[in-house]
Amino acid sequence: MDPPLDLQPSMMVRPVWPKCCCRRRLFWGLLSTLMVLLTLRFLISGGHEELLSHSLPYFMSGGGHRISPPLLPSSDDFLLLPPPEACSPRAPSLLVLVVSAPYHKTQRQAIRSTWGGARCAGKFTVQTFFALGLPQKPSFQAALELEAAKHQDLVQGRFLDTYGNLTLKTLSLMGWAATHCPGTLFLVKVDDDIFLNLPGLAEELEHRTTLAPTYLGQIHWRVWPRRDSRSRHYIPTSLYPAEHFPPYCGGAVYVLSGAAVPILLGASRHVPLVPVEDIFVGLCAHWAGIAPQHLARLTGGDHFPPDRCCYRGVLLSVHKVTPFEMAAVWDTTTPYKETCRVWQWALGYLRCKALAWMATL
Ligand SMILES: *[C@@H]1O[C@H](CO)[C@@H](O)[C@H](O)[C@H]1NC(C)=O
Repeated sequence: MDPPLDLQPSMMVRPVWPKCCCRRRLFWGLLSTLMVLLTLRFLISGGHEELLSHSLPYFMSGGGHRISPPLLPSSDDFLLLPPPEACSPRAPSLLVLVVSAPYHKTQRQAIRSTWGGARCAGKFTVQTFFALGLPQKPSFQAALELEAAKHQDLVQGRFLDTYGNLTLKTLSLMGWAATHCPGTLFLVKVDDDIFLNLPGLAEELEHRTTLAPTYLGQIHWRVWPRRDSRSRHYIPTSLYPAEHFPPYCGGAVYVLSGAAVPILLGASRHVPLVPVEDIFVGLCAHWAGIAPQHLARLTGGDHFPPDRCCYRGVLLSVHKVTPFEMAAVWDTTTPYKETCRVWQWALGYLRCKALAWMATL
């Protein structure tokens, strides 16, 4: 029988690293692991629409349906509308609809005076409008009417503006776009705390055909319905019995081609009215057989440090930007494109993600 091993001496010859060396190793180790993981994630999820539409069971049911005529609103469904000249005789080729709450006047003003003021981006003509519902305090309506008269950019649907009515808001803004702005090539839906890099987005969209209906954003995979009735995203089994949702684009920012809008509105008649807006759009797209396309740069992520290159050269959107930050970011990121070095471009998205990750440490 072997004598019992005496572990004491070997434990004592533990190598002694200088403290800073250890930290530095740990830092670079973590950073390279993160880079590898992000690269893998990017490669796996990016741009495989073909794979998506052929190999996933989700899309087998989609596509074979006969699309009903779109569910279009009448002008009675709106209280405030932009003037008809906004979209005719020529509709903007890029229509940006910012989902806003009645009381978010500061957010709207920050967008108007920064990226939303743009009237051109690349080859596109751009118009930005704000979609909202009825304020919970009826007395606030007068302030909205003043704002609409001054800026002529509010689209107000006749429904109470609440979190639970966000799906109605999306139906309302898509309905408005389909009836009042039918010639537009792309519709971009964003929240009012998004910094949208319009020149970058325009460059990206110029390469895309508008012939096939397009549904573009950051895809969320295999999300399951929340069955806890206390959750803000609660979805009862009676409304949606399946175990997973089909892949859908995150709601902070997504892009639809003009052609996709009436198709989704037609599909909306057949889809359960789940109160989570982005999932609802995903269900409509799935029903209509439109596969979402993944664009990692169209991120719904936040915590991005004010890095010129990330905001202007690489990311197409950044989420959770306060009105104050919006102006600051805008100031540091104009003029477009003079801010990125070659290596910053080359590392692009991964570098911005790593910066964002470090900012949260
Ligand atoms: C949605 O809006 C309608 C119409 O204004 C209102 O009756 C309803 O209570 C709202 N629903 C929610 C969940 O807030």
